[in-house]
Amino acid sequence: MKVQIDDKEFTCFLKHEKIIDRCRELGQQMNEDLKNSTPIFIGVLNGSFLFLADLMKEVSIPAEISFIKVSSYSGQTSSSGVVKSVMGLNDSIKGRDVVIVEDIIDTGITLTFLIEEVKKMQPASIRICSLLFKPDALKRDIGKVDYVGFEIPNEFVVGYGLDYKELGRNLKDIYRFIAE
Ligand code: IMP
Repeated sequence: MKVQIDDKEFTCFLKHEKIIDRCRELGQQMNEDLKNSTPIFIGVLNGSFLFLADLMKEVSIPAEISFIKVSSYSGQTSSSGVVKSVMGLNDSIKGRDVVIVEDIIDTGITLTFLIEEVKKMQPASIRICSLLFKPDALKRDIGKVDYVGFEIPNEFVVGYGLDYKELGRNLKDIYRFIAE
């Protein structure tokens, strides 16, 4: 199935059912790994909002949920490599186990920046969870990514929280850009 978003055409890549199945597996893994903890899950806005919602339905240990927002590039299909600021972090994560929940790791620039910012708040531990991971696009040493939904090729994707020019976040499935 194809969708047109603004000036670009995208083709279906990951069906919703497959994403939900993976959320279940990741949630179960987290329940096991964090069974002696009450972690704080921090969703990175805007892209992670649907993923965090579906993931948290599978997390049965006591957990807090929070959000942060970073401003980076937008409206393009490649990264400008600029991360400007983080909104929403506060002292409540001091001494806590934190799970950062991202929509996608592309160059890794956003995540590197985020990890440094979260570290300043002195959490007990930081785990990283990303629905999508493009290993071939990575430009930073991000260390271990604890939970990855799907490793994908270095192609621009949209849907299930991910946008193109702020559109397409509401698509249930994930679509990839068809190059001209
Ligand atoms: P990074 O800093 O290059 O790793 O990019 C991280 C952010 O860029 C993600 O949280 C997304 O908001 C955005 N991004 C990267 N790749 C894509 C993509 O293929 N589709 C939509 N957004 C993307």
